Amino acid sequence: MKETLTIAPAEIDRQLSICDQIRQLLDRRPGQKKAFVDTYGCQQNEADSERLRGYLARMGYEFSDTEEGADLVLLNTCAIREHAEQRVFGNVGALSHTKRRHPEQVICVCGCMARQDHVAKRLKQSFPYVDLVFGPQLLWQFPELLLRKLEKGKRVFETEDVPGSVAEGIPVVRQNNIKAWVSIMYGCNNFCTYCIVPYVRGRERSRRPEDILAEVRELAQAGYKDITLLGQNVNSYGKDLDLGVDFAWLLEQVNDIPGDFVIRFMTSHPKDASERLFDVMAKCEKVAPCLHLPFQSGSSRVLKAMNRRYTRESYLELVRQLRARIPDVVLTSDVIVGFPGETQEEFEETMSLIEEVRYDALFTFVFSPRKGTPAEKLEDPMPKEQKSANFQKLLQRQNEISGEKHKEYVGKTYRCLVDGVGADGRLSARTTGGRLIHLEGDEALIGTWQQAHITGSSTWALFGEIV
Ligand code: SAH
Ligand code: SF4
Ligand code: F3S
Repeated sequence: MKETLTIAPAEIDRQLSICDQIRQLLDRRPGQKKAFVDTYGCQQNEADSERLRGYLARMGYEFSDTEEGADLVLLNTCAIREHAEQRVFGNVGALSHTKRRHPEQVICVCGCMARQDHVAKRLKQSFPYVDLVFGPQLLWQFPELLLRKLEKGKRVFETEDVPGSVAEGIPVVRQNNIKAWVSIMYGCNNFCTYCIVPYVRGRERSRRPEDILAEVRELAQAGYKDITLLGQNVNSYGKDLDLGVDFAWLLEQVNDIPGDFVIRFMTSHPKDASERLFDVMAKCEKVAPCLHLPFQSGSSRVLKAMNRRYTRESYLELVRQLRARIPDVVLTSDVIVGFPGETQEEFEETMSLIEEVRYDALFTFVFSPRKGTPAEKLEDPMPKEQKSANFQKLLQRQNEISGEKHKEYVGKTYRCLVDGVGADGRLSARTTGGRLIHLEGDEALIGTWQQAHITGSSTWALFGEIV
């Protein structure tokens, strides 16, 4: 089977004309049609939902922020951990009530969960009111699948394993007019033994550089101030293109686009992050001085069992190389507690790694077995209680470190982008390194760059005033 399917522009045009056909169909029914899109999981999924909204807008739907009374409900799901899946099943279950009150409602489930056979089966058998289910590889075909449901009335399930696609030209309705996501690649080839992503998202495939650069240019012209390049492992960008380009090159190209914006990217896999990347980060003035570099475990034995292909030592060396070039870089990471077979001593190595690195922030997860992954079959003798005690210990120590690192900001002034208003009426802003600041100030400043003098701090945020 060919691993990457490039969708021809004519095929997307066909999907767009199907959108118009659906619009005509809906126009025959009274009232404005409303769609509710509910997104779970990572930024990749957020970016996908913006394209699904693009299609829906073209079909004539307006957007609603609740499932109640919506004509179409679309759940874009995540399969990364059990908890994420349970939330989706809970919410799909609750839709039986809204559907009873509104039998015309069309319920769609897409995204990473939809690509898992056991999930598709369960949706088919136990949730008869779910109308349309399709995996992430078929996002580009959403209009056609929806039309099939609307015309024939039968449930549509398109969840089998098909080659990963790259499709350009799908309309986008963005959720924010200051910050934007730009997917630069899809899928993953790394097969970390705990992770479901390669199974549900397919093999790694890169968008062509000219398409990415055109999208960023458009965003910069539209006044976007914060642009994040997305991929499961951005450092392997371009390997499948045979153009002799890599991620560091792409960053330089994006940096050369005129505009007053900051460039972020995620995620970087430590096995592929390089000094060349750090040099480019240091040199490019638009590239944010921050890096999300997941380490997952502080034990080289566990890293091997996770198939991460780096060691504790080589990871720490990478951090040294980065800090040699960007001394005040904001460093964040992901870590898993309780990987099957992780001993108490190995967990302590994770504790000592965070002590050594001192991350600004950490995303901590307890291992969650995923169907079909190698780690699911490993022996897992550590009791649950011990894992959660370890998790709490890690969290608590990291919170102290984050709080200490935030204290170092107090009394200094930072450039920041004002991006919204919090519940307390104060403005929220982000430093170029990505730290949150609560600011006093006028709402009219949203979307502008300011200098903020930091007057206080907590574990999670900084407090300041505009100078
Ligand atoms: N591609 C990114 C990660 C995407 S998933 C990367 O390689 O860094 C985000 C995070 O979820 C991972 O970094 C990992 O820490 C966590 N994660 C993934 N699978 C998990 C599982 N089965 N159980 C617990 N955490 C998991
Ligand atoms: Fe999952 Fe590993 Fe790929 Fe990240 S790099 S998406 S953790 S398999
Ligand atoms: Fe979840 Fe899929 Fe992202 S599994 S984390 S939504 S790639």
